[in-house]
Amino acid sequence: MSETDGPGRSAGGPVVALVPAAGRGVRLGEDKPKAFVAVGGTPMVRLAVDGLIDSGAVDEIIVMVPAELVESAGALLPLSCSVRVVVGGAERTDSVRAGIAAAPDAGYFLVHDAARALAPPDLIARVSAELHAGYPAVVPALPVVDTVKTVNPDGVVTGTPDRAALRAIQTPQGFAADLLRAAYASDVPATDDAGLVERLGVAVRTILGDPLAFKITNPLDLRLADAVLAHTETPAVGTR
Ligand code: C5P
Repeated sequence: MSETDGPGRSAGGPVVALVPAAGRGVRLGEDKPKAFVAVGGTPMVRLAVDGLIDSGAVDEIIVMVPAELVESAGALLPLSCSVRVVVGGAERTDSVRAGIAAAPDAGYFLVHDAARALAPPDLIARVSAELHAGYPAVVPALPVVDTVKTVNPDGVVTGTPDRAALRAIQTPQGFAADLLRAAYASDVPATDDAGLVERLGVAVRTILGDPLAFKITNPLDLRLADAVLAHTETPAVGTR
């Protein structure tokens, strides 16, 4: 599954993963920011970072967290790979922008939400491989199983997009670093990073996503993630 103009020349340079983990996670209903809520006994942000390390595709990881959690985040994260913690911002785009600013030498960025804590290393490696093949913007995508409708402010249906043309988009989203920097030069709001890149007129390639990369948002997602980990063999935390 791909929709693209074809690869260009690979940009080269270090792959830097940016992990937005500065959200409050109100919908989860927990007493701490979402990325710090444990899944299967391990904080989501640690699981997301471990997945990035296990992919073997990342040279450096920068995690954006709420200001008051910078120190405790440092204590939670592994030391075996180059991992840095920086202060995030009020909106997700502010957090990503802070990460971009902290990595002036990056050749590629993988932007990966801490909330997609169970994204498999293989998915991360596949996104990175497409970047190195010369695609400047790459996102994991899954077919949509529900029928999706648009509604007006009164909740009355205004349309039914063709489901065959719809995709649910996940992270990590990969970009040539200069492209993501250019996309973030403007202040336009967007729900994902690829949305900003699309505005520049650059083709965003989709690759097949993974159901395990689902975003942990609601209490039910947390239970699902706990159940997945209970049935998966993962290396013990602290072995990386
Ligand atoms: O709230 P939502 O689940 O859409 O957030 C997606 C990711 O962005 C989460 O990992 C969250 O921690 C992060 N985020 C952030 N800074 C914000 C808001 C969200 O890093 N201000």
